[in-house]
Amino acid sequence: MMRHFLRDDDLSPAEQAEVLELASQLKRAPFLRRPLEGPRSVAVLFDKTSTRTRLSFDAGIAHLGGHAIVMESGATQIGKGETIEDTARVLSRFVEAVVWRTYGQDRVETMAANASVPVVNALTDQFHPCQVLADLQTIREHKGTTAGLRMSYFGDGANNMAHSLMLGGVTAGMHVTVAGPAGFTPDPAVVDDARARAAETGGSVTVTEDPVAAATGADVLVTDTWVSMGQERDGLDREGALRPYQVNGELLAHSQPDSLVLHCLPAYRGMEITAEVIDGPRSVVWDEAENRMHAQKALLVWLLEHR
Ligand code: CP
Ligand code: NVA
Repeated sequence: MMRHFLRDDDLSPAEQAEVLELASQLKRAPFLRRPLEGPRSVAVLFDKTSTRTRLSFDAGIAHLGGHAIVMESGATQIGKGETIEDTARVLSRFVEAVVWRTYGQDRVETMAANASVPVVNALTDQFHPCQVLADLQTIREHKGTTAGLRMSYFGDGANNMAHSLMLGGVTAGMHVTVAGPAGFTPDPAVVDDARARAAETGGSVTVTEDPVAAATGADVLVTDTWVSMGQERDGLDREGALRPYQVNGELLAHSQPDSLVLHCLPAYRGMEITAEVIDGPRSVVWDEAENRMHAQKALLVWLLEHR
Protein backbone atom coordinates (compact mmCIF):
# COMPACT_ATOMS: atom_id res chain seq x y z
CA MET A 1 0.00 0.00 0.00
CA MET A 2 1.30 3.43 -0.91
CA ARG A 3 2.28 5.62 2.04
CA HIS A 4 2.50 9.37 2.54
CA PHE A 5 4.34 11.40 5.19
CA LEU A 6 2.04 14.27 6.10
CA ARG A 7 2.51 14.26 9.86
CA ASP A 8 4.95 12.64 12.26
CA ASP A 9 2.62 9.87 13.38
CA ASP A 10 2.17 8.64 9.81
CA LEU A 11 5.18 6.46 10.70
CA SER A 12 4.68 3.90 13.47
CA PRO A 13 7.37 3.76 16.17
CA ALA A 14 9.00 0.78 14.42
CA GLU A 15 8.83 2.48 11.02
CA GLN A 16 10.30 5.71 12.37
CA ALA A 17 13.18 3.72 13.90
CA GLU A 18 13.75 2.01 10.53
CA VAL A 19 13.92 5.37 8.73
CA LEU A 20 16.29 6.81 11.35
CA GLU A 21 18.56 3.77 11.12
CA LEU A 22 18.68 4.12 7.34
CA ALA A 23 19.39 7.86 7.76
CA SER A 24 22.51 7.02 9.81
CA GLN A 25 23.61 4.48 7.21
CA LEU A 26 23.16 7.01 4.42
CA LYS A 27 25.15 9.58 6.38
CA ARG A 28 28.07 7.13 6.43
CA ALA A 29 27.57 5.96 2.83
CA PRO A 30 25.76 8.70 0.86
CA PHE A 31 25.41 6.74 -2.39
CA LEU A 32 24.43 3.38 -0.87
CA ARG A 33 20.86 3.54 -2.18
CA ARG A 34 19.95 4.74 -5.68
CA PRO A 35 16.18 4.15 -6.10
CA LEU A 36 15.81 7.16 -8.41
CA GLU A 37 18.55 6.03 -10.84
CA GLY A 38 17.61 6.96 -14.39
CA PRO A 39 17.32 9.70 -13.39
CA ARG A 40 13.71 9.64 -12.27
CA SER A 41 12.22 12.81 -10.85
CA VAL A 42 10.73 14.15 -7.62
CA ALA A 43 8.69 17.38 -7.55
CA VAL A 44 9.60 19.75 -4.71
CA LEU A 45 7.09 22.60 -4.45
CA PHE A 46 7.25 25.72 -2.30
CA ASP A 47 4.38 28.02 -1.35
CA LYS A 48 6.67 29.57 1.30
CA THR A 49 10.34 30.52 1.39
CA SER A 50 13.08 28.01 2.29
CA THR A 51 16.83 27.55 2.46
CA ARG A 52 17.47 24.20 4.18
CA THR A 53 14.47 22.28 2.87
CA ARG A 54 15.19 23.28 -0.67
CA LEU A 55 18.92 22.50 -0.48
CA SER A 56 18.51 19.23 1.41
CA PHE A 57 15.87 17.77 -0.90
CA ASP A 58 17.62 18.92 -4.08
CA ALA A 59 21.04 17.59 -3.00
CA GLY A 60 19.57 14.44 -1.42
CA ILE A 61 17.50 13.50 -4.48
CA ALA A 62 20.69 13.79 -6.59
CA HIS A 63 22.43 11.36 -4.20
CA LEU A 64 19.58 8.89 -4.75
CA GLY A 65 20.30 8.97 -8.48
CA GLY A 66 17.33 11.22 -9.22
CA HIS A 67 16.42 14.67 -10.42
CA ALA A 68 14.60 17.28 -8.32
CA ILE A 69 12.10 19.50 -10.08
CA VAL A 70 12.03 22.43 -7.68
CA MET A 71 9.20 24.90 -8.25
CA GLU A 72 8.00 28.03 -6.48
CA SER A 73 4.22 27.86 -6.54
CA GLY A 74 3.99 31.48 -7.70
CA ALA A 75 5.62 30.33 -10.91
CA THR A 76 3.13 27.46 -11.38
CA GLN A 77 -0.55 27.31 -12.26
CA ILE A 78 -1.33 26.25 -8.67
CA GLY A 79 -0.46 29.85 -7.74
CA LYS A 80 -3.09 31.02 -10.23
CA GLY A 81 -5.85 28.81 -8.90
CA GLU A 82 -5.54 25.44 -10.65
CA THR A 83 -6.98 22.97 -8.17
CA ILE A 84 -4.81 20.83 -5.92
CA GLU A 85 -6.76 17.78 -7.16
CA ASP A 86 -5.88 18.44 -10.81
CA THR A 87 -2.28 19.32 -9.94
CA ALA A 88 -1.91 16.04 -8.01
CA ARG A 89 -3.13 14.01 -11.00
CA VAL A 90 -0.74 15.77 -13.40
CA LEU A 91 2.28 15.61 -11.08
CA SER A 92 1.72 11.88 -10.59
CA ARG A 93 2.22 11.31 -14.33
CA PHE A 94 5.75 12.77 -14.20
CA VAL A 95 7.35 12.14 -10.85
CA GLU A 96 7.99 9.38 -8.29
CA ALA A 97 7.08 11.54 -5.27
CA VAL A 98 5.76 15.01 -4.43
CA VAL A 99 7.31 17.13 -1.68
CA TRP A 100 5.30 20.23 -0.75
CA ARG A 101 5.77 23.17 1.63
CA THR A 102 2.48 25.00 1.99
CA TYR A 103 -0.02 26.61 4.39
CA GLY A 104 -2.94 24.49 5.66
CA GLN A 105 -2.52 20.80 6.42
CA ASP A 106 -5.71 20.25 4.39
CA ARG A 107 -3.72 21.18 1.28
CA VAL A 108 -1.17 18.36 1.63
CA GLU A 109 -4.01 16.00 2.56
CA THR A 110 -5.86 16.91 -0.66
CA MET A 111 -2.66 16.43 -2.65
CA ALA A 112 -2.14 12.99 -1.09
CA ALA A 113 -5.75 11.96 -1.63
CA ASN A 114 -5.46 12.67 -5.36
CA ALA A 115 -1.86 11.66 -6.09
CA SER A 116 -0.81 8.19 -7.15
CA VAL A 117 2.71 8.74 -5.77
CA PRO A 118 3.88 9.38 -2.17
CA VAL A 119 3.40 12.93 -0.85
CA VAL A 120 5.77 14.41 1.74
CA ASN A 121 4.95 17.38 3.98
CA ALA A 122 7.91 19.79 3.76
CA LEU A 123 6.21 22.09 6.35
CA THR A 124 2.65 23.22 6.80
CA ASP A 125 1.20 25.64 9.33
CA GLN A 126 0.46 22.61 11.56
CA PHE A 127 3.44 20.25 11.16
CA HIS A 128 7.10 20.05 10.09
CA PRO A 129 7.72 16.30 10.24
CA CYS A 130 10.85 16.15 8.05
CA GLN A 131 12.54 18.55 10.45
CA VAL A 132 11.73 16.36 13.43
CA LEU A 133 13.16 13.25 11.73
CA ALA A 134 16.42 15.23 11.41
CA ASP A 135 16.11 16.38 15.03
CA LEU A 136 15.69 12.80 16.25
CA GLN A 137 18.65 11.64 14.15
CA THR A 138 20.74 14.42 15.74
CA ILE A 139 19.68 13.43 19.27
CA ARG A 140 20.49 9.76 18.55
CA GLU A 141 23.94 10.73 17.28
CA HIS A 142 24.79 12.79 20.35
CA LYS A 143 23.00 10.77 23.04
CA GLY A 144 23.01 7.26 21.57
CA THR A 145 19.24 6.97 22.01
CA THR A 146 15.98 8.91 22.16
CA ALA A 147 13.79 6.65 24.33
CA GLY A 148 13.32 7.94 27.86
CA LEU A 149 15.01 11.30 27.24
CA ARG A 150 13.32 14.54 28.25
CA MET A 151 12.90 17.03 25.42
CA SER A 152 11.46 20.48 26.17
CA TYR A 153 10.31 23.01 23.60
CA PHE A 154 10.06 26.72 24.45
CA GLY A 155 8.02 29.31 22.57
CA ASP A 156 4.98 29.26 20.33
CA GLY A 157 3.36 26.01 21.43
CA ALA A 158 0.76 26.27 18.71
CA ASN A 159 3.18 26.19 15.79
CA ASN A 160 4.29 23.46 13.40
CA MET A 161 7.50 22.62 15.32
CA ALA A 162 5.74 22.27 18.67
CA HIS A 163 3.18 19.91 17.14
CA SER A 164 5.73 17.84 15.26
CA LEU A 165 8.10 17.60 18.23
CA MET A 166 5.23 16.25 20.33
CA LEU A 167 4.12 13.64 17.80
CA GLY A 168 7.57 12.69 16.52
CA GLY A 169 9.18 12.83 19.98
CA VAL A 170 6.72 10.50 21.67
CA THR A 171 6.90 8.17 18.66
CA ALA A 172 10.61 7.90 19.52
CA GLY A 173 9.73 7.20 23.18
CA MET A 174 10.65 10.66 24.50
CA HIS A 175 9.08 12.69 27.31
CA VAL A 176 8.10 15.88 25.49
CA THR A 177 7.22 19.13 27.26
CA VAL A 178 5.87 22.18 25.45
CA ALA A 179 6.32 25.44 27.38
CA GLY A 180 4.52 28.51 26.08
CA PRO A 181 2.20 31.25 27.30
CA ALA A 182 -1.60 31.23 27.30
CA GLY A 183 -2.81 31.88 23.78
CA PHE A 184 0.17 29.98 22.32
CA THR A 185 -0.68 26.46 23.44
CA PRO A 186 -0.76 23.34 21.22
CA ASP A 187 -3.85 22.18 19.37
CA PRO A 188 -5.66 19.92 21.92
CA ALA A 189 -6.37 17.37 19.17
CA VAL A 190 -2.64 17.01 18.50
CA VAL A 191 -1.94 16.71 22.24
CA ASP A 192 -4.51 13.89 22.41
CA ASP A 193 -2.95 12.13 19.42
CA ALA A 194 0.52 12.49 20.94
CA ARG A 195 -0.70 11.09 24.27
CA ALA A 196 -2.26 8.10 22.51
CA ARG A 197 1.04 7.44 20.74
CA ALA A 198 2.98 7.97 24.01
CA ALA A 199 0.89 5.24 25.63
CA GLU A 200 2.36 2.80 23.06
CA THR A 201 5.98 3.88 23.45
CA GLY A 202 6.41 4.81 27.13
CA GLY A 203 6.84 8.48 26.27
CA SER A 204 4.74 11.34 27.65
CA VAL A 205 3.45 14.82 26.82
CA THR A 206 3.36 17.80 29.22
CA VAL A 207 2.04 21.25 28.37
CA THR A 208 3.03 24.05 30.75
CA GLU A 209 3.28 27.82 31.04
CA ASP A 210 6.34 27.49 33.32
CA PRO A 211 9.63 27.66 31.38
CA VAL A 212 11.81 26.85 34.40
CA ALA A 213 9.80 23.71 35.20
CA ALA A 214 10.19 22.67 31.55
CA ALA A 215 13.94 23.27 31.57
CA THR A 216 14.60 21.51 34.87
CA GLY A 217 16.31 18.21 34.16
CA ALA A 218 15.76 18.45 30.39
CA ASP A 219 18.12 16.45 28.16
CA VAL A 220 17.21 18.39 25.02
CA LEU A 221 16.01 22.00 24.71
CA VAL A 222 14.39 23.16 21.49
CA THR A 223 13.09 26.49 20.33
CA ASP A 224 11.88 28.07 17.11
CA THR A 225 11.15 31.49 15.69
CA TRP A 226 8.42 33.44 17.46
CA VAL A 227 6.92 34.44 14.12
CA SER A 228 6.29 31.58 11.71
CA MET A 229 5.86 32.05 7.99
CA GLY A 230 2.41 33.45 7.31
CA GLN A 231 2.07 35.01 10.80
CA GLU A 232 3.98 38.21 10.06
CA ARG A 233 0.87 40.36 10.10
CA ASP A 234 -1.50 38.47 12.43
CA GLY A 235 -1.55 41.34 14.95
CA LEU A 236 -0.59 39.18 17.98
CA ASP A 237 1.95 40.51 20.51
CA ARG A 238 4.29 37.59 20.05
CA GLU A 239 7.45 39.20 21.36
CA GLY A 240 5.84 40.42 24.59
CA ALA A 241 4.20 37.08 25.28
CA LEU A 242 7.10 34.84 24.26
CA ARG A 243 10.12 36.65 25.74
CA PRO A 244 9.93 34.72 29.07
CA TYR A 245 10.46 31.55 27.00
CA GLN A 246 13.75 32.69 25.44
CA VAL A 247 16.40 29.94 25.51
CA ASN A 248 19.29 31.72 27.27
CA GLY A 249 22.12 30.82 29.64
CA GLU A 250 19.92 31.17 32.71
CA LEU A 251 17.28 28.77 31.37
CA LEU A 252 19.93 26.33 30.15
CA ALA A 253 21.45 26.21 33.66
CA HIS A 254 18.32 24.37 34.87
CA SER A 255 18.79 21.54 32.37
CA GLN A 256 21.08 18.50 32.54
CA PRO A 257 24.79 19.41 32.47
CA ASP A 258 25.13 17.57 29.14
CA SER A 259 21.89 18.83 27.58
CA LEU A 260 21.67 19.55 23.85
CA VAL A 261 20.16 22.63 22.22
CA LEU A 262 18.29 22.31 18.93
CA HIS A 263 16.77 24.92 16.63
CA CYS A 264 15.39 24.10 13.20
CA LEU A 265 16.69 27.46 11.86
CA PRO A 266 16.44 30.17 10.70
CA ALA A 267 17.27 31.58 14.16
CA TYR A 268 16.83 35.10 15.44
CA ARG A 269 19.57 35.73 18.01
CA GLY A 270 18.39 37.87 20.91
CA MET A 271 14.79 36.82 20.35
CA GLU A 272 13.90 33.12 20.88
CA ILE A 273 17.54 32.18 21.60
CA THR A 274 20.65 34.07 22.68
CA ALA A 275 23.86 34.09 20.65
CA GLU A 276 25.64 32.67 23.71
CA VAL A 277 23.46 29.54 23.56
CA ILE A 278 23.08 28.92 19.84
CA ASP A 279 26.79 29.54 19.24
CA GLY A 280 27.79 27.74 22.45
CA PRO A 281 28.99 24.20 23.21
CA ARG A 282 25.56 22.59 23.81
CA SER A 283 24.22 23.68 20.43
CA VAL A 284 24.01 21.01 17.72
CA VAL A 285 22.13 23.11 15.19
CA TRP A 286 24.59 22.61 12.32
CA ASP A 287 24.47 18.82 12.64
CA GLU A 288 20.69 19.19 12.83
CA ALA A 289 20.62 21.19 9.59
CA GLU A 290 22.87 18.66 7.82
CA ASN A 291 20.73 15.78 9.01
CA ARG A 292 17.77 17.16 7.08
CA MET A 293 19.35 15.67 3.99
CA HIS A 294 20.20 12.27 5.46
CA ALA A 295 16.80 11.86 7.12
CA GLN A 296 14.86 12.92 4.02
CA LYS A 297 16.88 10.60 1.77
CA ALA A 298 16.03 7.74 4.12
CA LEU A 299 12.38 8.76 4.15
CA LEU A 300 12.22 8.88 0.34
CA VAL A 301 13.90 5.47 0.02
CA TRP A 302 11.44 4.05 2.55
CA LEU A 303 8.38 5.58 0.85
CA LEU A 304 9.52 4.40 -2.60
CA GLU A 305 9.91 0.88 -1.22
CA HIS A 306 6.42 0.90 0.32
CA ARG A 307 4.44 1.69 -2.83
N1 CP B 1 14.34 24.44 9.05
C1 CP B 1 13.84 24.68 7.84
O1 CP B 1 12.86 24.08 7.40
O2 CP B 1 14.52 25.63 7.13
P1 CP B 1 14.08 26.33 5.78
O3 CP B 1 12.85 27.15 6.08
O4 CP B 1 15.26 27.19 5.39
O5 CP B 1 13.78 25.28 4.76
N1 NVA C 1 7.88 27.61 12.62
C1 NVA C 1 8.71 28.08 11.53
C2 NVA C 1 9.62 27.00 11.05
C3 NVA C 1 10.57 27.41 9.96
C4 NVA C 1 11.41 26.28 9.45
C5 NVA C 1 7.83 28.55 10.39
O1 NVA C 1 6.84 27.92 10.10
O2 NVA C 1 8.16 29.60 9.82
